[in-house]
Amino acid sequence: MAPEPRPELLEVPDVVHGALDFAELERLGLAPEAVLDFSVNGNPYGPSPRVRAALATVALERYPDRQALALRRELAQHLDVPPSQILVGNGSAELLWLAALAFLRPGDAVYILGPTFGEYERVARLLGARVQGYTAAPAAFHVDPQAVAQELHRTSPRLVFVCNPNNPTGTYLPCETIAAWAGAFPQSLFVVDEAYLPFVAGAASVHTLRLANVLALHSMTKAYALAGLRLGYALGPEPVVQALAKAQPPWSVNALAQAAGRAALSDQQHLRTCLARLAQAKGELVRGLQALGLAPLPSATHFFLVPMGNARRCRQALLRQGILVRDCTSFGLPAYIRIATRTPADNARLLAALQAYGQSGVCHGR
Ligand SMILES: Cc1ncc(COP(=O)(O)O)c(C=O)c1O
Repeated sequence: MAPEPRPELLEVPDVVHGALDFAELERLGLAPEAVLDFSVNGNPYGPSPRVRAALATVALERYPDRQALALRRELAQHLDVPPSQILVGNGSAELLWLAALAFLRPGDAVYILGPTFGEYERVARLLGARVQGYTAAPAAFHVDPQAVAQELHRTSPRLVFVCNPNNPTGTYLPCETIAAWAGAFPQSLFVVDEAYLPFVAGAASVHTLRLANVLALHSMTKAYALAGLRLGYALGPEPVVQALAKAQPPWSVNALAQAAGRAALSDQQHLRTCLARLAQAKGELVRGLQALGLAPLPSATHFFLVPMGNARRCRQALLRQGILVRDCTSFGLPAYIRIATRTPADNARLLAALQAYGQSGVCHGR
């Protein structure tokens, strides 16, 4: 008899992600370069020019530094934390998997604030944990801190996943709310995914509160525009960070990613310029959508939800015009699409495509 995979695999949901699906594009006869991607919440202006210059100098025949020491030291200086409180990973996705690998045992409870990024549930189920959760309701997606505290008391989770600001809603919880939960439940590890924090003007990382049971995850693929290279880092108390490091496969952060990260970090002016341009472009895009009669939801980020009636149909119709938006059905929100702001020229193309879609008479979003 053929060997069977672990039974927990049967419990693992298929997670849908944004970004181009190359097989789908092939079926539709679309070239990937011809598609404008509003489905990933990245920085459409691309990385600092310093990144490409740094990549050209990397010795490809050499193994990367397994501890990413140079990058960690520079991050440490930039963030004013000791390098021992930083772990670099192959995207923040690897780091959230490592947090689960390092801390979860079969049967443990995991608490997830939803609707949110699907990888938290995926890894929790793979490890045989029991998934509990809070589901904020449309259209405000307000989180009731008291209700969450009561559920935390009832479930006593070993791990709590909080995405802040949240994907897909773009809602932002003050650090103090998370800190109050963490203080009240010291036996739970709070993994706070701050992948999109740079897109929230003036927001501070929960890491600045230096709490013993809080780990912050940062992505360098989004604001620094290194999605193709994969890079992120975890910030937290040393024992927690060292536990993740123990679970990490060797060389998971390649030499190109490490060099790119250092170059990107050195160019804070590029980051600031991109974020300022995006914030302005978001305001214009939202006004453009409202002028079409659509009702984008308020968000703290450059991405936001828009009710469209049937999100799947909307995505498909726009994709045929070379425009990709995120159908939020997989988040349990089949009436919503998620749009991430791009450059003003790209946004104008989206608005034109949505206008054509509305005129086709299939848009019942209001
Ligand atoms: C909330 C959230 N966390 C983490 C990730 C993964 O990011 P990274 O590219 O850093 O692995 C994503 C990617 O979409 C995300 O939406």
